[in-house]
Order: sequence, then structure tokens, then C-alpha cells
Amino acid sequence: MKIAAIGGGVIGGGWIARFALSGHDVAVFDPHPEAQRIVGEVMANAARAWEKLFQAPLPDPGRITWAGSIAEAVAGADYVQESVPERLDLKHHILAEIEASAPEGTIIGSSTSGFKPSELRVGARHPARILVAHPFNPVYLLPVVEVVGGGAAAGRACEILAAVGMKPVQIAREIDAHIGDRLLEAVWREALWLVKDGIATTEEIDDIIRFGFGLRWAQMGLFETYRIAGGEAGMRHFLGQFGPALKWPWTKLMDVPELDEALIDTIAAQSDAQSGAHSIRELERIRDDNLVGIFQALKATDWGAGRIVREMENGFYAREGRPATGYPLRLHQVIVPGGWVDYNGHMTEFRYLQAFGDATDAVLIHIGLDEAYRATGFSAYTVETHIRHLAEVKAGERLTVETRLLGHDGKRMRLHHAILRADGSVAATGEHMLLHVDTDAGRAAPMPAALLAALAALAALERGPAPDHAGVGIRRIGAVAEAQA
Ligand SMILES: NC(=O)c1ccc[n+]([C@@H]2O[C@H](COP(=O)([O-])OP(=O)(O)OC[C@H]3O[C@@H](n4cnc5c(N)ncnc54)[C@H](O)[C@@H]3O)[C@@H](O)[C@H]2O)c1
Repeated sequence: MKIAAIGGGVIGGGWIARFALSGHDVAVFDPHPEAQRIVGEVMANAARAWEKLFQAPLPDPGRITWAGSIAEAVAGADYVQESVPERLDLKHHILAEIEASAPEGTIIGSSTSGFKPSELRVGARHPARILVAHPFNPVYLLPVVEVVGGGAAAGRACEILAAVGMKPVQIAREIDAHIGDRLLEAVWREALWLVKDGIATTEEIDDIIRFGFGLRWAQMGLFETYRIAGGEAGMRHFLGQFGPALKWPWTKLMDVPELDEALIDTIAAQSDAQSGAHSIRELERIRDDNLVGIFQALKATDWGAGRIVREMENGFYAREGRPATGYPLRLHQVIVPGGWVDYNGHMTEFRYLQAFGDATDAVLIHIGLDEAYRATGFSAYTVETHIRHLAEVKAGERLTVETRLLGHDGKRMRLHHAILRADGSVAATGEHMLLHVDTDAGRAAPMPAALLAALAALAALERGPAPDHAGVGIRRIGAVAEAQA
């Protein structure tokens, strides 16, 4: 699929990175003299974040090409994302140029934070294909995209965007600033008042968010959080208890503080004091690392944005499962996160098993024992493991797991994994026996023909003798001593 990106600033750069990292070629037009450098820097940060975020092998990135005009960028494009500055006259001008050169079926999504589709479509040749596709920064990490405009084009846009890991939320009725920015605007106005009135500094306000309700919002949003706040009596109780407060003078929402020089100076100075020690790119990397940690915590509970990461990883594994994959299989990679390191400064013991377990999952998906298969009531359980720790591994190292199938029968498979470091040396090996099980009955069950055929295909690729440590347990030191005595 060919993607065109018109505008490669903060948001356009994030879109370009997301599409390219998902394996799509992206043609970009942005007249800014430094656009290539800026997009290059965003791309580097995005690639760094994706390597940390996903444990599955990432697809080869698509090619980013720089077009000399809008016409050149959108020629032959399936999907165009417009991310030029937020001025309606400019957007109309750009949309007309896109329409003049893009194929008739091309869908055009606008990143606009505030304009409605009906405003964007004024004067358009094919208005129904122009949509709002409003993301949040950083676009390469945050999944949500508000899709406004409806119709078949919106349905198709949602498919395209979901395929690159977005969570499209279709908004049925167009309103100024859609939903996310309406909510944020309310909080932003309050925050500006609190600074203007000298009640709180920018740092105090940020602390109240990041040490408090910000942590809740990432995982349960507003309503589910308040439902819990209502205690056992739930939402009704919450509304009863705090409802009257809505009429008290808690907020200043209807007033907008004058953004005069004095207020701008105050906010800018406080913000410099709070965050000026870091460059914007540094702040972006800190933000991305924190977001990756949140995503991974949510992935462990298969909740919210974490579920998207898991679904993306399943897709990456399935892509790897195509016949092009060589043998021994290399289906799993991980960059050792800081949290995997223990007091010795090396990857801690149980993380080796995690790397092997994740590699085993990748192999199972590869042979067809995937989520859909597990939903039929069958799975594979590991019943025996032998790990050898051969070298120290540090945080930040890229590890690749190489897998051989040492044997299988009607119910079992015996896998051998080797954790390879970047220089190809072996950091650890793991040998694992897996049993095919009927999960409801809780007992071993014969594998169906399709799984056996996939295993047989791998077995046919297996060459050479099994490693000499295969099938060997831990040496019995006591027994050696006894023998020597
Ligand atoms: N910044 C955010 O947090 C955010 C979030 C969501 C949506 N948006 C929306 O995304 C859009 C872009 O915002 P941004 O923050 O990326 O702005 P930006 O200023 O960082 O980037 C805009 C880019 O458009 C380029 N541009 C200007 N004229 C152009 C033209 N004729 N053709 C092609 N490119 C042109 C500029 O050179 C610049 O690189 C806006 O509509 C904005 O409302 C912004």
C-alpha cells in the first residue's frame, strides 16, 4: 500500500514514522528546508521506541521518499494523510491540490485538531473521501485516532489505520475539535487559570496529574475510574455524591484567561525552570520510554492500549511465519529493558526464561497454534525446561532467539532455543518439551493434522546432529564427588 504524507512536522513526522515502521512506503511533501532532517530525527526516535515496545520481530521499514510537489507525492497513493498547519484556507488549498492528482479512490485523512469534515470539504470534488483522522502526539506510539466524516471512506480509513496499530474511534456527529481536544481544552483552561491566579506553578499542576489521576487515565479513562470511585454502590453512588459539586463554583470553564504577555512570560519561565534542562528530543525519548513501560504493563494485563501491542505483535509473528523465514527459525527479538537487569548489572535469571517463553509463543504462532486456534479449546503447555546461562547480558543489548525443532510426536514437541547476542555469540540455550493439551479437559490431546504438517515441514528442514547438551540435565555434583571418593 502506498501512503502519502503532506506535511512532515510534529504530527506529520509521527504519521510517517508509524506508516514506514509498519512496512509501508511513504511519499512525503513538505516545503520546509529542514523537513528531511526533522523527519529523520522523529523516525530515529520512533524506531528506537518500537524496538523497545515490541518483542516480535519488526517488519522491514517501508521507504520514505521526498516528493517535489503534492502532485508527485499523492500520485498512485491509496491513502493520504494531510498534516499541514491548522489554517482552514491553507487546508482547502492543499486538499484541492491533493484531489487534483490523487487517484479517485484515494482516501484523504486530515490531522486537523479542530476543523469539522463539513468545513474541510467546502469546494471539494469528491467530498465524501475527505475525513478527519485526528491523532495524538506521539503518533507513532499513541494508538487512538478520531475518525470523523462517516460513510464508506471512514470505514476503509479505519481498516487502513487499524492495520498500522491505530485504534480508530469513529465519531458519529461532527463537532468543533472532536472529542479528545474538547476534554483536553477543559483541563487546559483550568490549568491556565490556576497559573494566572498564582495558585499553582506549571510543575505543581503537572505533579498533580502525573502522580495522580494521569496514572489512572492511561488505563481506565474517566467513567470506569469514577465507577470504582463510587465504591461498591458504583456509578450511581458516585453521581449522587459528587453530582451537586458540579453546580458549585469549582471551575472557571466558561471563561478563558487572557493569554497576555504577562501570562505567557509566567508560563514560559516556569516551564523553563521545570523542564529546560532537557532538549525537546531528550524529553521525547524520556516520554517514549515511559510510554513503552506503560504499554508493557498494560500488555501484561491484556488491557486497553496494551491489547493493541499484543495484537500488533501477533501480526508481526504471523508475517514472519511466511515461507521466507529461514531455518533455524529466528522469530523473536528483544532489546533488554533496564528493568530486566539485577544487582549484578546483568540480565536477571528469570528473564532468560521470559525470552525463551516469548520465542516459544512465536514458534507456536508460526505453526498455526495462534490465538484463533487457542480459542477452540486447545493449547500447548511447557512441561519441562533446561536452561544454560553462558554469557552475561547487559541492558540495551539486542538479543535474537534462534530455534530448532529437535523432535515431535503426535502430542509433543521438543524445541531448542539459543539466545544470540548482536555479535552472533550464544548467551544462553534453552531446551523445552511442550505438550499439546485440551484446555477444558486439562489433559494431553493429539495434535490435529494441520499442526502436525507444520511441524513435519520444520522437521524436514532440521539438519545435522542435535547439540551435544540436548537431552542432558544438570550434572550431579554429589554423584561426581561420590564417584571420585
Ligand atoms: N501538535 C499536536 O499536538 C497536534 C496533535 C494532533 C493534531 N494536530 C494537527 O496536525 C496538523 C499539523 O500540526 P503540527 O503540530 O504537526 O504542525 P507543525 O507546524 O509541526 O507542522 C506542519 C508542517 O506542515 C508543513 N507545511 C506548511 N505548508 C505546507 C504545504 N503547503 N505543503 C506541505 N507541507 C506544508 C510545515 O513545513 C511543517 O513541517 C494541524 O492540523 C494540527 O491541528 C497537531
